[in-house]
Amino acid sequence: MSVSLLRLHGLEVNYGAVRALRGVSLSIEPGAMIALLGSNGSGKSTTLKAISGMVKPVAGQIEYQGQSTSGKSRIAWFDWVSRMCPKAVAFFKDLAVLENLRMGAYTRNDADGIAEDLAMVFDLFPAFK
Ligand SMILES: Nc1ncnc2c1ncn2[C@@H]1O[C@H](COP(=O)(O)OP(=O)(O)O)[C@@H](O)[C@H]1O
Ligand SMILES: [Mg+2]
Repeated sequence: MSVSLLRLHGLEVNYGAVRALRGVSLSIEPGAMIALLGSNGSGKSTTLKAISGMVKPVAGQIEYQGQSTSGKSRIAWFDWVSRMCPKAVAFFKDLAVLENLRMGAYTRNDADGIAEDLAMVFDLFPAFK
């Protein structure tokens, strides 16, 4: 059996007295494209925040490529989760448009690839240019 790209098992997250996640388990296989669907407040964002290390689960495991991520710093595997994209309202008001776009490449250092991706964005959204 192949190793899952990402596996959550029995994840529980609290915000103070509020239980936000109760026993969330799922596997994502390599190459899969998935969507997490649910009503408002059902725990989608909290699940992503737990995966990226922004909130600390009180129980459960997160495995990335078969390895537990507990005890690892967020940065150690940030490269994978850095593709998380906040809601459209969450931009940096004090930064210019170009600076905001460049924030998406915060963890990258492949200048050519970044320039290529920026060109693609300008192609898709000419108003940004
Ligand atoms: N910062 C917070 N403090 C307290 N409760 C929160 C906080 N963020 C989310 N919650 C609660 O956790 C639950 C899951 O929220 P959330 O993960 O944001 O759901 P979704 O993204 O699916 O709308 C909800 O009951 C929500 O009210
Ligand atoms: Mg949300």
